[in-house]
Amino acid sequence: MTLTKILSGKDVCKSVYTSLEERIKRLKAKRIVPGLAVILVGEDPASQVYVRSKSRRFERLSLYSETFAMPGTTSEKEILRKIRKLNMDDRFHGILVQLPLPKHINEDAVLREVSPLKDVDGFHPENIGRLAVGNPRFIPCTPKGIMRILEFYDIDLSGKHVVIIGRSNIVGRPLSLLTSQKKPLSNATTTICHSKTPDIRYFTKQADVVIAAIGVTQFVDETYIKPGAILIDVGINQIPDDSEKKYRLVGDVHYDRINGIASAVTPVPGGVGPMTIAMLVENTVESAEARL
Ligand SMILES: NC(=O)c1ccc[n+]([C@@H]2O[C@H](COP(=O)([O-])OP(=O)(O)OC[C@H]3O[C@@H](n4cnc5c(N)ncnc54)[C@H](OP(=O)(O)O)[C@@H]3O)[C@@H](O)[C@H]2O)c1
Repeated sequence: MTLTKILSGKDVCKSVYTSLEERIKRLKAKRIVPGLAVILVGEDPASQVYVRSKSRRFERLSLYSETFAMPGTTSEKEILRKIRKLNMDDRFHGILVQLPLPKHINEDAVLREVSPLKDVDGFHPENIGRLAVGNPRFIPCTPKGIMRILEFYDIDLSGKHVVIIGRSNIVGRPLSLLTSQKKPLSNATTTICHSKTPDIRYFTKQADVVIAAIGVTQFVDETYIKPGAILIDVGINQIPDDSEKKYRLVGDVHYDRINGIASAVTPVPGGVGPMTIAMLVENTVESAEARL
């Protein structure tokens, strides 16, 4: 039985924050404090938790962040107006619209309104387009964080077969652009599976690296992988338990069933999740540096 190595995102984060310290100091010496505006519409509890942890991280690094909370009944027009104001506000180098938005709001229209120069989430079509042609400005935080984990643990994707399950614009699709790009450590043959793929195992059993970004509790088990595969678990799912919170977080990978078969796996929590926030900070710092 092989020992399955844990690819801790927390360790990677530490090195990211250490490398950012110097860059932040340089900016502050020029009286620039990287600033992030967060737009939160509605009362979704999970979104509130995410936004709080993002702001806490900015506070801990003595960066500027402000959350603009708007009621769930806010019209699309009002949100667009707010974004246009923030686009012009020099205190903010990054603007993030927390997703999902209430059903009556056209998410695409809102994301398109964010200035591509402040789009630190990397969701604007201009930034996705730049990523697609190999000239990225802001790379979406979760895919960027996954690439950084692989780099940190010396996992070179070149010539490997990567199978990504999930094709969202936030994770799966941009990640497929990154893994297959013509760049050192990338150059993978990449396959994307989704809910209409008839036999996902057919693909994942051939994969050297399986990335699960579906949002289905413990979907990937030993029957999906070949021995020695590397697993990246993006999923964040709640399952009920007896703790005070009444739930615990698990990923899209069934850890107990792949343990000893996969060669490495990112844990949930403590894997991809913390990297997403670290990359948001990095993108905001990058945006501030563009003003130097
Ligand atoms: N760790 C982090 O920082 C982080 C960041 C973002 C998201 N997440 C987590 O990652 C997961 C995915 O997020 P997302 O925003 O990408 O979700 P999403 O927009 O709901 O997309 C899910 C994708 O998975 C596919 N899918 C769903 N059920 C499937 C099934 N049974 N078999 C095969 N494919 C299936 C969907 O296929 P179709 O396209 O055919 O519908 C879709 O492409 C969620 O658990 C989310 O909480 C974590």
